[in-house]
Amino acid sequence: MKSKTLSFQLSIFESLAELPKEDQELISLASQAKENAYAPYSHFKVGAAVLLENKQVVIGSNQENASYPSGLCAERVAVFQAGAKFPGVTILKIAIVASSEKTATREPAAPCGNCRQSIFEYENKQKKPIELLLMGGEGPIYKCLSIKDILPLAFKSDFLV
Ligand code: THU
Repeated sequence: MKSKTLSFQLSIFESLAELPKEDQELISLASQAKENAYAPYSHFKVGAAVLLENKQVVIGSNQENASYPSGLCAERVAVFQAGAKFPGVTILKIAIVASSEKTATREPAAPCGNCRQSIFEYENKQKKPIELLLMGGEGPIYKCLSIKDILPLAFKSDFLV
């Protein structure tokens, strides 16, 4: 039997001021996008901002539905929109900001499993890592250098050929 330990580097910033301007701006756009979340059921609002290599930013927010599974997370609204609007353009990073209207959330909310899988699809296709910036109510901010870091042993398209 062999065993392997998988680890990844998570950078933790105590405040926005510690981040480069570009990251601060992307987080600010994700935070603004969060305000357009439609979350009457969970009262949990999420905003995402995707920075593309062509400098365009595409945003998304979670959109819920009375038939719960018909809703969609902010991250997928954003990355699918990026794929539809700018096909083939490399995604550099995604900022995700989340907060609950019911409780104060300090810890950043990491993307759900479905969103990780969707973001991974683009990272695998473009063969360049997608950086993640995650923020809760007010901080700290988590930075991951690749979606692979938080989706080890991912299911990938190569398995289907
Ligand atoms: N949500 C997101 O937008 N992103 C995630 O990664 C996790 C959850 C949304 C879905 C739903 O509208 C609400 O948060 C509660 O699950």
